[in-house]
Amino acid sequence: MSSVTNTDRKKGFTINDFKASKEKKIPISMLTCYDFAFAKILDNSDIDVLLVGDSLGNVIAGYSSTIPVTVDQMIYHAEIVRRGAPSKFVVIDMPFMSYHVSVEDSLRNAGRMIKESGANAVKLEGGRDFSATVKALVKASIPVMGHLGLTPQSIHKLGGYSVQGRQEDQRKTILEDAKILEDSGAFSIVLEKVPESLAKEISEKVSVPTIGIGAGRYCDGQVLVLNDMLGLDESFAPKFLKKYASLYDITKNAVNDYCGEVKGRVYPGAGNVYE
Ligand code: KIV
Repeated sequence: MSSVTNTDRKKGFTINDFKASKEKKIPISMLTCYDFAFAKILDNSDIDVLLVGDSLGNVIAGYSSTIPVTVDQMIYHAEIVRRGAPSKFVVIDMPFMSYHVSVEDSLRNAGRMIKESGANAVKLEGGRDFSATVKALVKASIPVMGHLGLTPQSIHKLGGYSVQGRQEDQRKTILEDAKILEDSGAFSIVLEKVPESLAKEISEKVSVPTIGIGAGRYCDGQVLVLNDMLGLDESFAPKFLKKYASLYDITKNAVNDYCGEVKGRVYPGAGNVYE
């Protein structure tokens, strides 16, 4: 078992550090990342884990859900992130219908995603229904991160992006699913948009670390969508989100300054021209 200190982490967070972090009660930090420019910044940051999330369907492609995202699109973005952030632990999301047809098909897709992108692990949404798949991937040496609670790929079944697990039967199902994922070999579980008390109970009852988004303060780690926490979309402001910057305003102001200087013949100035 590796012993995790913040100095060690700078050398690179590994699969062993997930469990070690939980045991040592050191919260795990995870952010999504989709492109080279941000990957380079994040590679030089303190962040533990990068997630190439299928949320790229929303924040990069502008789709209204993650449903249309393909395996090829995920590989394309994850390979770029890997190149920009060679020292980070990178998790790649398996997109909708890439692990739903059969265990064999899931293995083939996950194998391609790991081989072609260079990511360290895959993430998939769901519990008991994917137990056999998780076991097969782990057996093939592909680490699997689970994802329970609000599972955006099930948007048509759920009927919206609301908090999951408020009713007693739902709560019981999510808790059981977390145990099933742990027993199937998942090394970590994302809990999205569930009551804080449920996330706390799961985090206490499973030995693998939980990573929360909209799941309160007692998870073993936290994840946010990078573009959201940087404030790139001024219209997106759910209760769980904390914006650490206002890149929407910074970008718009910079663009308007540039336009003004072009129109006013201020840019390019004498210092920006070649002799
Ligand atoms: O796709 C994604 O960004 C995610 C996070 C919300 C955990 O799955």
